[in-house]
Amino acid sequence: MSNVLVVGGAGYIGSHACLALREAGHEVVVYDNLSTGHREAVLGGVLVDGDVRDVEKLKEALRNYRVAVVMHFAALISVADSVSNPIAYYEANVEGTLSLLSAMVDVGVEVMVFSSTAAVYGKPDYSPMCEDHPTRPLNAYGESKLAIERAFPHYERAYGLKISKLRYFNASGADSKGRLGEVHDPETHLIPRAFNAVLGGAPLEIFGEEYSTPDGTCLRDFVHVTDLADAHVRVLRHLQDGGESGVYNVGTGSAYSVREVIQMVERVTGQRVPTISSPRRIGDPSSLLAASDRIQNELGWMPIHSDLQEIVESAWRWHQTGWHGSATGDAG
Ligand code: UFG
Repeated sequence: MSNVLVVGGAGYIGSHACLALREAGHEVVVYDNLSTGHREAVLGGVLVDGDVRDVEKLKEALRNYRVAVVMHFAALISVADSVSNPIAYYEANVEGTLSLLSAMVDVGVEVMVFSSTAAVYGKPDYSPMCEDHPTRPLNAYGESKLAIERAFPHYERAYGLKISKLRYFNASGADSKGRLGEVHDPETHLIPRAFNAVLGGAPLEIFGEEYSTPDGTCLRDFVHVTDLADAHVRVLRHLQDGGESGVYNVGTGSAYSVREVIQMVERVTGQRVPTISSPRRIGDPSSLLAASDRIQNELGWMPIHSDLQEIVESAWRWHQTGWHGSATGDAG
């Protein structure tokens, strides 16, 4: 088993990956500047408080903890925010990853598992989309991740690195034992925002109701964060067993519309979600649906927790309790 540096390990997906890595017997060192991550999400082990653009600090962490493998989750992730503030997205996501790669090359750490996104695809030519679907991002977030994906083969060839990329579809849900869950500030994601509306916050805005989809709202492929975490452990094992680096979609192949998700939130909470109609959000593709055959066939991954009801139930339990057993739902 290895020492894994989890960059962005105090964030939503990174913290769940830390749990899965520990359960698989790895030693985990979290590297996070806590700008969007949370100290409470680091459930034991070491936390190095550092910025992903700080090459010297990264090198120190890689050396001090005899790191064999890096998992890189640290990124800005809001599609809408990336449209109005692309500088921040290129700096954090592109410059940040280049710094991390420089540190790895200097210290001689050769393996990375990288968080990419379905946002690299853009408007689907066909659906579900496999990894060979053309990449034409609709927003700076997707572009920033794609720019880095394109840099990787050069680093792999020149420096002997192995880097696998996981293109997540819509990460959602929370740890089944209630140890971790989603906490973003501001919260932009559909399911927690629907909870906030149920709990008396502002009504949920439905961004666009005239897409060319069956009910007019966008379609998304929701994948449970615990299944995503398991995908990382499998990809890491594959690389360490001498497997080739690769790119993998991680989604379920089932699409739900915004309206269907709202209905599920109503069923799980037993309360009505107050909604208002809003214009389309710039940068939103109408549909994102994964073909994840590659990771299923090559690595035996299955989305075992990603039934929409299980996703919403686990997220709702977490939303009501959080880390401290008190409500985390801000009413904003
Ligand atoms: N939506 C609303 N109202 C809201 C919030 C969201 O109608 O208050 C809609 C969005 O317009 C979209 C859908 O719900 O159609 C899902 O939106 P999210 O913000 O929850 O998620 P995104 O699909 O925009 O993005 C997420 C991740 C990205 C990732 C993408 C890939 O945040 O990092 O999934 O599928 F790229």
